[in-house]
Amino acid sequence: MKILITGAAGFIGTNISMHLLSKKHTIYGIDNFDNYNSLKLKKYRIKNLKKNKKFYFKKIDITNRKVLLKFVRDKKINLIIHLAAQAGVRYSIINPNKYINVNLLGFMNIIFAAKKNKIKKIIYASSSSVYGDSKKYPVKEDDNLNQKNIYAVSKMLNEKMAETYSKISNIKFIGLRFFTIYGEYGRPDMFLFKLFKNSFNKKVFELNNYGNHDRDFTYIKDVNIIIEKLIYIKSQNHTILNICSNSPVNILKIIKTFKKKIFVRVKYIKKHQADILKTHGDNLKVKKITKYINFSKFNDNLFKIYSWYRDNKIYKL
Ligand SMILES: NC(=O)c1ccc[n+]([C@@H]2O[C@H](COP(=O)([O-])OP(=O)(O)OC[C@H]3O[C@@H](n4cnc5c(N)ncnc54)[C@H](O)[C@@H]3O)[C@@H](O)[C@H]2O)c1
Repeated sequence: MKILITGAAGFIGTNISMHLLSKKHTIYGIDNFDNYNSLKLKKYRIKNLKKNKKFYFKKIDITNRKVLLKFVRDKKINLIIHLAAQAGVRYSIINPNKYINVNLLGFMNIIFAAKKNKIKKIIYASSSSVYGDSKKYPVKEDDNLNQKNIYAVSKMLNEKMAETYSKISNIKFIGLRFFTIYGEYGRPDMFLFKLFKNSFNKKVFELNNYGNHDRDFTYIKDVNIIIEKLIYIKSQNHTILNICSNSPVNILKIIKTFKKKIFVRVKYIKKHQADILKTHGDNLKVKKITKYINFSKFNDNLFKIYSWYRDNKIYKL
């Protein structure tokens, strides 16, 4: 199958590309090499992917409708996995306009490109942040949503756009509410790789909210398999799925476990205004649809991913 992956130079995009290439799909990756995260890292990920002859890359900004449309038409794409976005909760306080531009306009262009080219399915990234702080856990897909920042609002609106277009087009949409995905090639702006980098460079690691956060960490290799299964599944017009392990871990506990083996200096600081205290999702729906039930345990992976980090020099730059 010819699959377009947007945000292919990003953390999840690179992992899914690798996984689907190993399953003999042809991957057309696009990314604008946005400088929100390390450019060196993005180029390194794409260089790795290009070793496979079935991977094609083009630098495209999804807000440029004309260029995007031409690419999708010329490559005769069968399916879109849309991951490109301005990510990050805290940065949305500083630069909200970028979220509106990339996450809303960009997504509209993706839908438009699919519609014009009669593409039947779009699998797109939403986020657990659409739930906000909840009163009861684990959160289920049809629970009330309560966004706390513009990033979350942009993801909620993506879901509304998908819902609308699933009714007025022949495109089937699957929206993935990702819950703190972690793993190899991870994001340098997220907790785990920040912790690793500060520890490795002997710098102080600032721990928000004194570590009193719980996160439903979800391993990227579980995500890869789930997405692969979703490609083939006959779904309804619009399906929303929690992509989570249903197993939240306390951040302070992670720090304590990590410090037992690896040195890191920690500065305990107060909560950031954009942060959510806890994420914990119910994953019954995704288990039922995909029959994938064996989610990895965070504690089994922590030091494995740290070793991977240590062996990948680019991450320390
Ligand atoms: N990683 C997580 O835990 C997590 C959690 C919830 C939701 N998500 C969502 O999953 C998706 C992938 O996340 P990620 O962690 O891989 O993020 P990432 O930042 O590593 O990847 C996103 C990629 O999109 C690219 N991009 C940004 N603007 C673009 C534009 N205008 N045109 C083309 N490409 C553009 C970036 O350069 C980047 O390579 C995002 O939509 C994100 O919001 C991720």
